[in-house]
Amino acid sequence: MDISIIVAVAENGVIGKDNQLLWRLSEDLKLFKKRTTNHAIIMGRKTYDSIGKPLPNRLNIVISRSKDLEIEGCLVADSLEKAIELAQNDSDKEEIFIIGGEKIYTLAESLATKLYLTKVQVNLEGDAFFNLKPYENWTTVSSEHYKKDERNEYDFEVLEVIRTNMEAIRN
Ligand SMILES: NC(=O)c1ccc[n+]([C@@H]2O[C@H](COP(=O)([O-])OP(=O)(O)OC[C@H]3O[C@@H](n4cnc5c(N)ncnc54)[C@H](OP(=O)(O)O)[C@@H]3O)[C@@H](O)[C@H]2O)c1
Repeated sequence: MDISIIVAVAENGVIGKDNQLLWRLSEDLKLFKKRTTNHAIIMGRKTYDSIGKPLPNRLNIVISRSKDLEIEGCLVADSLEKAIELAQNDSDKEEIFIIGGEKIYTLAESLATKLYLTKVQVNLEGDAFFNLKPYENWTTVSSEHYKKDERNEYDFEVLEVIRTNMEAIRN
């Protein structure tokens, strides 16, 4: 079962500010929906708060240290490892998507086997960052460019990257 990070990141590493996304990229959202539908999505409690509801047709798993947190329509786990276990217990699900935010991406870095990376061609001020620098052990398998238009605020590029050095996963 692939564990895939999916993230949209500005050129300066910013992914959000004040617990919100910083761009409107309709084509990227469509891709996010297409890729994650019918699979498991794992997110930090703050990202869940920012979305505000479970995303339909996906197994939603929220990570929180709070022992008594219950969220209708979601499973709650107190570690990334437990969240992954919950996803793996659902035999219908073929891929696990780590959908953010900063803290959860950092936790997932050593476990992820795939990265869906949207590079947004802008520099913005923010308070949440994506710091993964996987490139020496990862290979880009596809890349597509999208142009700014009335429904996409900035030019962006969507990369699919896989981890090719298996030692890096085991160590
Ligand atoms: N551009 C993108 O692709 C993208 C995607 C997603 C999110 N974002 C942005 O990222 C920002 C949110 O990121 P964030 O880092 O502030 O929050 P986050 O990663 O979404 O959630 C952090 C929360 O997760 C829980 N948590 C973190 N580490 C944990 C651990 N080791 N064990 C158990 N629970 C743990 C804690 O919840 P409790 O406080 O409940 O204990 C913590 O407050 C927002 O601005 C959002 O818009 C951007």
